Amino acid sequence: MRLCAFISLLCLSSFVSGRNAPHSERKRAVPEGFVTTNHGQFELDGKPFNFVGANSYWLPLLTTSDDVEKTFLGMRDQGVKVVRTWGFNAINGSELAGALESGLTYYQVWNSTKFVLNEDSQGLQRLDNVVSTAGKYGIKMIVTFTNNWIGYGGSDLYINWMLGSGATHDEFFTNENIISAYQSYVKTIVNRYKTSPSIFAWELMNEARCLSDTIPAGPNCVPGSETLNTWYSRQSDFVRSLDPFHMITTGGEGQFFWENPPILWSNGVASTDYNFNGQAGEDFDKTLSLPNIDFGVYHMYPQTWYPQLDFPGSNFTVQGWGLGWMQDHIQAAKAIGKPLVLEEFGISGLKNKSTVYKEWVDFALESGHAGVMPWQFGQLGLTEDGGNRLIKYADMILNGASPNDGNTFYANETSIDDIFINAAKVMAQRSQ
Ligand SMILES: *[C@@H]1O[C@H](CO)[C@@H](O)[C@H](O)[C@H]1NC(C)=O
Ligand SMILES: *[C@@H]1O[C@H](CO)[C@@H](O)[C@H](O)[C@H]1NC(C)=O
Ligand SMILES: *[C@@H]1O[C@H](CO)[C@@H](O)[C@H](O)[C@H]1NC(C)=O
Ligand SMILES: *[C@@H]1O[C@H](CO)[C@@H](O)[C@H](O)[C@H]1NC(C)=O
Ligand SMILES: *[C@@H]1O[C@H](CO)[C@@H](O)[C@H](O)[C@H]1NC(C)=O
Repeated sequence: MRLCAFISLLCLSSFVSGRNAPHSERKRAVPEGFVTTNHGQFELDGKPFNFVGANSYWLPLLTTSDDVEKTFLGMRDQGVKVVRTWGFNAINGSELAGALESGLTYYQVWNSTKFVLNEDSQGLQRLDNVVSTAGKYGIKMIVTFTNNWIGYGGSDLYINWMLGSGATHDEFFTNENIISAYQSYVKTIVNRYKTSPSIFAWELMNEARCLSDTIPAGPNCVPGSETLNTWYSRQSDFVRSLDPFHMITTGGEGQFFWENPPILWSNGVASTDYNFNGQAGEDFDKTLSLPNIDFGVYHMYPQTWYPQLDFPGSNFTVQGWGLGWMQDHIQAAKAIGKPLVLEEFGISGLKNKSTVYKEWVDFALESGHAGVMPWQFGQLGLTEDGGNRLIKYADMILNGASPNDGNTFYANETSIDDIFINAAKVMAQRSQ
């Protein structure tokens, strides 16, 4: 999730092209308790597995085990089966003193061209606790290895420290030294939880794009360059070489590279939509066809992606655009024969959420999505530090409520919560 929009234009047409021929992915034999795929569906111990999930990047940032327990208990009571969290939390050397003082969780410190790993009680042991507590509540984790964005120490720290200023963001995907550093971190995480049935899947990067929020894209990451697809291919093969059993996915927003992307109009000028024209860097169909990408994921924030279209009287509606985006992805995933998860989505406002999420979630269930994961479930009643500890980037625990970026909803907001509780019941029925 990233609260910042790029291009905002008017969508006139949307049609599909360049579909792959369907092929059915066969089942891989995995240990008991591991989720795998079988002919386009998730499967757990011989039964289909469909779920409502949650995003919770802040879980490993909690400093007390009690709060971690309380959060998993709250999620379990709402029927959540899969939780996605960051498997990265990196800081700059200049932030270390502050982090030690505030108890901020960090796994990597960058103060030279080589990061230093932190496996102590303020480091990876907090992630260990999250993964083992998830297991206690019958919840499985999606763990993401790095971030496209600056938040929580993503790819830009690798770039800044290893390449210095002047480098472009897409060099993260092509520079061999960076690839080695990324892989050495990935190896640490994968080896740590490789035998754990509490891992649902590994995720290569949150929202990979040619550009980031602090560093622009270079001239080599353009539609058709396949920079991201090549990286996804190489890194998914790498993870598979470390771990034969857990599933692997991208973590991407799910942009398409269509031959005929929708035409948009802005101030009388026609152009194509970056979500469909390959400009962002992804090619959803091509990447989902890779042998070690086990299932598809995509994100959905039309309200922040198209703010200039979103005004009363325009033909654009947040819910309508979302339904089209969902339809495009389920069609692609079915053609390729792999399961699909709507992995992040959000809009602001209590009333907006209650109405729009209902439509989106109903459509997800109807159209055969295997997982639905809102950004984001909140938890009330956290006890940490009296309830006002600044986590980072202005996210805070306020009066015991987990961080709210505007998209958070809590158990007291039953008109929203009930949508997911009911959906979780449907998914549970489809998991027998
Ligand atoms: C980072 O490096 C600088 C310069 O080498 C040094 O002065 C500083 O103490 C280092 N900080 C940490 C946290 O290692
Ligand atoms: C890291 O900290 C140094 C100061 O120690 C600063 O110059 C640099 O911009 C920071 N880098 C990043 C990526 O935040
Ligand atoms: C909405 O669509 C109609 C029919 O295509 C068109 O005539 C009208 O100009 C559009 N309105 C806006 C605000 O784009
Ligand atoms: C609800 O959604 C509309 C349309 O996207 C937006 O203009 C409005 O600000 C939202 N309401 C709140 C309270 O966020
Ligand atoms: C639910 O609790 C949150 C966090 O304390 C609060 O911000 C929100 O206003 C509450 N919602 C309702 C509908 O009371």
